[in-house]
Amino acid sequence: MAIRPVGPLVLLLLLLLALAWARKAAGAVREQKRREGTEEQVVGEVGGEVILTCRNASWPAVQVDWFHGEPGAIPILFSSDGKLPSDARFSLVGNSSLHISGLRLEDEGNYTCKETLNATASLHRIQLLIASGPGQVNVNIYPTTALLNGTLYAKRHDILNFTCTSDSFPTPTTKWDFNQSMSLQEPFTEVNDTLGYFVLYNISPRYQGNYSCLVTNPLSGRRQTVTRELLIY
Ligand SMILES: *[C@@H]1O[C@H](CO)[C@@H](O)[C@H](O)[C@H]1NC(C)=O
Ligand SMILES: *[C@@H]1O[C@H](CO)[C@@H](O)[C@H](O)[C@H]1NC(C)=O
Ligand SMILES: *[C@@H]1O[C@H](CO)[C@@H](O)[C@H](O)[C@H]1NC(C)=O
Ligand SMILES: *[C@@H]1O[C@H](CO)[C@@H](O)[C@H](O)[C@H]1NC(C)=O
Ligand SMILES: *[C@@H]1O[C@H](CO)[C@@H](O)[C@H](O)[C@H]1NC(C)=O
Ligand SMILES: *[C@@H]1O[C@H](CO)[C@@H](O)[C@H](O)[C@H]1NC(C)=O
Ligand SMILES: *[C@@H]1O[C@H](CO)[C@@H](O)[C@H](O)[C@H]1NC(C)=O
Ligand SMILES: *[C@@H]1O[C@H](CO)[C@@H](O)[C@H](O)[C@H]1NC(C)=O
Ligand SMILES: *[C@@H]1O[C@H](CO)[C@@H](O)[C@H](O)[C@H]1NC(C)=O
Repeated sequence: MAIRPVGPLVLLLLLLLALAWARKAAGAVREQKRREGTEEQVVGEVGGEVILTCRNASWPAVQVDWFHGEPGAIPILFSSDGKLPSDARFSLVGNSSLHISGLRLEDEGNYTCKETLNATASLHRIQLLIASGPGQVNVNIYPTTALLNGTLYAKRHDILNFTCTSDSFPTPTTKWDFNQSMSLQEPFTEVNDTLGYFVLYNISPRYQGNYSCLVTNPLSGRRQTVTRELLIY
């Protein structure tokens, strides 16, 4: 049996078919990815409130259902159809957006809104991240004695330990700053930790000045600063 050479026209046809198939496959994959991932991130703070918007909700005459997680696996959290949530912190705004007040860390997660219009449903996913703090910023310079006005004083030649701790979720950045009235500000190293500390040996009057601990929540950007004046005698 002789193998007939394939004509250039057939080759071109095959190439076009392959291209069309490849494009279709790529499109299908893209669609899949878009539907699986969360399309939006929203940051809330413990004790605060947040509004999650069902982006695609058209108005009027649509039904919007909210889920904490994926629809199907998890019961409806809130529905514009009249289903009320068990938790009074949840409410519906403008018949489509989910309002959550008194935010807690447990509220973190992925929320899905399902908009049903003409028997077709579309989904929109929002990832809610919850930040807490920084709070309880505790600055300690040891060993020192406090004056009545809160200024600390240390003895010449002592070894001083400067510590700064705080409460924050997620882990904050903690940074010490040194400000002297007559000189430039000197920033110390920054750490991604709830504890930041450094030690000064053989302390002398040139270390006299204002020491500040700056704690920043990476998610909310909220910052707390505590300053202590240190004098050396
Ligand atoms: C929420 O979605 C994001 C991105 O799609 C994913 O990384 C994360 O694990 C999900 N979180 C939960 C609690 O399912
Ligand atoms: C919410 O839905 C109700 C009943 O379907 C309607 O009367 C009302 O106008 C809607 N409100 C908004 C803000 O869309
Ligand atoms: C929904 O159905 C109505 C009436 O059948 C039609 O006028 C409208 O265009 C449809 N909307 C969409 C988004 O398909
Ligand atoms: C939802 O909105 C996005 C952005 O406006 C749009 O690209 C997408 O097609 C909409 N999805 C549906 C199902 O309407
Ligand atoms: C606190 O008191 C000390 C000693 O009297 C003084 O040197 C210092 O400037 C005072 N600090 C502030 C912030 O008032
Ligand atoms: C300084 O304080 C920190 C935090 O309490 C501690 O881990 C560190 O060992 C102390 N360093 C010195 C030299 O005392
Ligand atoms: C330190 O001094 C600089 C410049 O004088 C000032 O901008 C900054 O606010 C001071 N920082 C603190 C923590 O006091
Ligand atoms: C702290 O974390 C941030 C974000 O992950 C990173 O960009 C930065 O380099 C970290 N800083 C230190 C001092 O590790
Ligand atoms: C610390 O800051 C206060 C207020 O800004 C300033 O009056 C004082 O002189 C500073 N102390 C030193 C030692 O630089």
